Amino acid sequence: MPSPGSHPPSVPDAGILALQAKTSARLIATVQQLSLVRTLPAIQAIVRSAAREMAGADGATFVLRDGDRCHYADEDAISPLWKGQKFPMSTCISGWVMLNARPAVIPDIYVDPRIPHDAYRPTFVKSLVMVPIRAETPIGAIGAYWARTRDPSPGEVVALQALAQTTAVAMENVQVFTELEQRVAARTQQLEALNREMEAFSSSVSHDLRAPLRAIGGFTQFLANELGDKASEKARHHLGRIREATTQMSTLIEDLLQMAKAAQQEMRQTEVDLSALAREIAERLRQEQPSRAVELVVADEMRARGDRGLLGVVLQNLLSNAWKYSSKAANPRIEVGVESGPDGTKHFFVRDNGVGFNAAKAEKLFTPFTRLHTAADFPGTGVGLSTVQRVIHRHGGRIWATAEEGRGATFRFTCGSPGRDDSLRSSSRGA
Ligand SMILES: Nc1ncnc2c1ncn2[C@@H]1O[C@H](COP(=O)(O)OP(=O)(O)OP(=O)(O)O)[C@@H](O)[C@H]1O
Ligand SMILES: [Mg+2]
Repeated sequence: MPSPGSHPPSVPDAGILALQAKTSARLIATVQQLSLVRTLPAIQAIVRSAAREMAGADGATFVLRDGDRCHYADEDAISPLWKGQKFPMSTCISGWVMLNARPAVIPDIYVDPRIPHDAYRPTFVKSLVMVPIRAETPIGAIGAYWARTRDPSPGEVVALQALAQTTAVAMENVQVFTELEQRVAARTQQLEALNREMEAFSSSVSHDLRAPLRAIGGFTQFLANELGDKASEKARHHLGRIREATTQMSTLIEDLLQMAKAAQQEMRQTEVDLSALAREIAERLRQEQPSRAVELVVADEMRARGDRGLLGVVLQNLLSNAWKYSSKAANPRIEVGVESGPDGTKHFFVRDNGVGFNAAKAEKLFTPFTRLHTAADFPGTGVGLSTVQRVIHRHGGRIWATAEEGRGATFRFTCGSPGRDDSLRSSSRGA
């Protein structure tokens, strides 16, 4: 029989052999349950009943260290113990266990000086085992209690210690998870506020800019008409430059308005045929630039749940980028397809064999006005992909790019919550 407070065999040495098959099975089940929980109360609920069952005890408590006090946070027992109560560390056995970072094995509580007998007299408890949660600097303790004096077996103590170790890991996981969740929530709130501000700003500025821009365009035309043939070569050149600049600015305004709309517009979710949508867009691109010979392949039967108009904006931007940035390739080829991601999620992609870009900068492309190519090489405002990202995020998906300079780019996106589709393998057939 171990003396009070003595070290029982450590896990997983000799003592583990003493674990009964039933106890081991219960411990394994508990480890599995604990690996899935995300909150402290859920841990407590699992541990209090596992402790009682594994030790074959009449009651079990889950104690948390709360500064210099022991908080009897939870219990599972034949009659009430101390649930919800807090005691100074120095006056209770769970405090002794935590301060000494070792188990207490007490066959008869009324002969042990560490026990505050008055606190135990109203309860059924006659003997107990208490183990610390987390070997170094304990953060709590698990207690098992019996209604008669008895010598707890080394196996019972080892089982409780193993449970306590698992509990410590689960508690640390919960802490990390909670901190991460809080950080993500705070950051998301910040970003949402910033986005709302930015969207409201760009939307109102864009609206306000439209009228003066129309005036510049209109009056430039009047001026051109008035000057007619009298306009000098130089004057005609200047007028041309004004027209170019107004067109450029008007594109930018429309892009900004589309970005604001993509974030604010109400969504109507339906089953969207992305294959048909991609083909319509491809056809428009061909009509706009019939001189270009591009091999364009669209996979059949690509479907996603979402807002048809907004998903059209996604494909329009990705396809027109592929079209634009492959304009200098010898044999331009664009492929729209879908693959099955590692977790079974559909990864839609738009791939081209154009100019590509430095893959290290891929993340930046989704920030408004970030361009990796000059306007002289490829015209554009640098707003398209940020609009795309907004739409994808609103659909609960994500978007990312891979590329190599001179060897093309691939943009992949998911849409909505991960829907498994086991029948899906990489597929892309001719349009
Ligand atoms: N398929 C692609 N191949 C190579 N670079 C690309 C491709 N798609 C996007 N990029 C790079 O990402 C940048 C941002 O793309 P984005 O679509 O946001 O803007 P843009 O095409 O320059 O202008 P616009 O706002 O008119 O779409 C581009 O300027 C380009 O440098
Ligand atoms: Mg673009």
